Amino acid sequence: MRIDKLLANMNYGSRKDVKKLLKKGLVKVNGTMVKDGKSHVEPELDAITVSGDVVHYVKHVYLMMNKPAGVISATEDKVHKTVVDLLGDEFVSHKPFPVGRLDRDTEGLLILTNDGQLSHRLLAPKKHVPKTYYAKIDGRVTEKDRRRFEKGVELDDGYITKPAELAILSSGTHSEIELVITEGKFHQVKRMFEAVGKRVLYLKRLQMGSVKLDPSLLPGQSRSLTQQEIEMLEKDSPSH
Ligand code: URA
Repeated sequence: MRIDKLLANMNYGSRKDVKKLLKKGLVKVNGTMVKDGKSHVEPELDAITVSGDVVHYVKHVYLMMNKPAGVISATEDKVHKTVVDLLGDEFVSHKPFPVGRLDRDTEGLLILTNDGQLSHRLLAPKKHVPKTYYAKIDGRVTEKDRRRFEKGVELDDGYITKPAELAILSSGTHSEIELVITEGKFHQVKRMFEAVGKRVLYLKRLQMGSVKLDPSLLPGQSRSLTQQEIEMLEKDSPSH
């Protein structure tokens, strides 16, 4: 990897800032001053210092966000604010992207990472990684709906959903539910309720695989996943 790219990724500033550091002779690789940003380094092997401080190379970042309503699950957008716009510079420099999408009006747990392989596995339909949602529904959710979701319902495009687990928390003119689905079709939860003649008023993701939304995160806040949470996601989507 180029030294300028590595230092920019490790949050030593923009490529331009990094160029200045190099020019000033502040960067050393294995004890030797390096001034050319194009110089190649082996980040896992070489000892790299900036002003004498060791650069600890971090390849992957893993974050959880409590996504607020009104932002889109993308890295950039011409019109709307994205989830990446809500992250601090120390995270953005690692170029994380959201693992899957939540609708603009959906809140809750969003994992962001720059680990393409883990992201791919978590989203692979074959892995059936469960996702738990809380929703407020316009209408009375009934035991009959629960059984229909358990069997699979037909969406507007003819697709029959995989068995899903519906827990009815309260039932009235407005109901509250929790739903566990193991797939991620476009607008899936909303379309499942449409299939039984009801409308989702509010939707929040609570859990992905074994990882739960940290209740201390306010909407828009993020934190790094713990080592244990990363291992849980690895186990939820084994590579074999
Ligand atoms: N299902 C939906 O309808 N929307 C989401 O954002 C996530 C799941």
